[in-house]
Amino acid sequence: MLLLDITGFIGRFHPLFVHLPIGFIIAAVLLEWRLKDGRYQKAISYLWFLSAITAGVASLCGWFLANDGSYANWTLFAHRWLGILIAVVSLYAWYVRRDPNPNARSKKITNVVSIAMLAVTGHLGGNMTHGSDYLLEYAPTPIQKLMGYGKTGNDLPQFTDPDSVMTYRDIIFPTFEKKCLGCHNDNTQNGGLNMASIDSIKLGGDGGAVIISGDITSEVLRRVTLPTSSAKFMPTSGTHMTYREVRLLEWWITEGADYNSSVSTLTADESIKAILMSRYNLDLTPRPWIEKTKISLPDSATFADISATGIKINAISNSNGWVEISNHIGSEVTSEQLSSLSAASDQITWLQLPNSGLTDDMLSNFKALSNLTKLKIQGNPITSAGISQLENLSNLETINLINTKVDDSFFELLDKMPKLKSLYVWQSDITSDALAQARIDYPDIEIVGGIEN
Ligand code: HEC
Repeated sequence: MLLLDITGFIGRFHPLFVHLPIGFIIAAVLLEWRLKDGRYQKAISYLWFLSAITAGVASLCGWFLANDGSYANWTLFAHRWLGILIAVVSLYAWYVRRDPNPNARSKKITNVVSIAMLAVTGHLGGNMTHGSDYLLEYAPTPIQKLMGYGKTGNDLPQFTDPDSVMTYRDIIFPTFEKKCLGCHNDNTQNGGLNMASIDSIKLGGDGGAVIISGDITSEVLRRVTLPTSSAKFMPTSGTHMTYREVRLLEWWITEGADYNSSVSTLTADESIKAILMSRYNLDLTPRPWIEKTKISLPDSATFADISATGIKINAISNSNGWVEISNHIGSEVTSEQLSSLSAASDQITWLQLPNSGLTDDMLSNFKALSNLTKLKIQGNPITSAGISQLENLSNLETINLINTKVDDSFFELLDKMPKLKSLYVWQSDITSDALAQARIDYPDIEIVGGIEN
């Protein structure tokens, strides 16, 4: 036990010592290359000697470090033996240069070989501590492409609809699959943990549950956020989780660690939104209800019948069947015209009839327009009593009642319109007191009252 403590302690000096031979070797090679007259021969030879000693010490520390974690793979193997080889080659380089007239070819070979080994060993070491995508994670896209970064694990799916993206299945698990499953699967369960399926990960490992809803000290999150030098850090070898992957994991756990919820049901702050946007092209800004809901167009006879009455009917988009109703500017509508709207009652979602002589009685024609989201009937002689006929239109998002006879009792309707976002009521009979109260009672609705209130 004591022995283990001491070797573990020594191991931690590896990151400190590795930089010494790097400096000595680079200095020795540069001096020999730039200062050819031989006066520096002694100094150069001494640098190689120092490099051999420090590379040896670094290798020893490294050996102990690797023993206390479980970095058992090819990267470690190559890094370890290349490191030792650097110490050996340095010793040989020193030996060659002890001769007053060293062989020029041996000098050149030791220089080239040492620098090449330094580059490879250092890169492998970096991959082990930071993950192999560390270097290029934030590189400009052309450089990432040039270096083949996209091929080494950044081929992420691009999503369009947050409702259909399952947070665990599509965002969290793919990272586990790539970076954890190698050691936590149906066959190999290090620490007693199998992350291959939802059922198995819920069972946890030897230490119990590893994911606890809402708990950011959950073991999976703790293990991936430990200092990378910690023996408990995960993964013990192979590619580390990136900063963004850790942030997403933390977000999912904080939001309740639900395995079956879609991304759109979780609240995301700006930084999470930015990560989802840049990784998956996933836009979480809410889309209007009519964009998310599909409906088929009214048939052409309906279009013809409504147009024939002198009212305008237009499709809102090519990809959906929603329509907008309006009238020709300055013309007054009649009850007969409005009754024709019932043929398209499912599809009418925008209704704009400003200054059209619309009365309370006529409003009854709108009762069946249950998918109405935008109602613009400003400039008409209508009252709260007339509007109250529309209490079942629960999809309304915008209502414009500017310059009407609507009064304070109108606000009683707001409880029945849960989706209402904007309300325009200036130049109506609404009092400024009622307006102020409504703004307090319905903070999510933007109530535009006009200049006088
Ligand atoms: C190269 C193998 C390897 C990889 C890859 C790996 N682990 Fe582990 N994991 C282990 C070993 C070995 C243990 C047991 C020793 C320990 O608990 O530290 C372990 C234990 C754990 C435990 C503790 C289980 C318990 O209850 O004791 C958690 C949590 C864990 N790993 C999470 C992860 C996560 C998350 C990843 C991916 C980011 C990952 N591991 C990748 C080898 C690995």
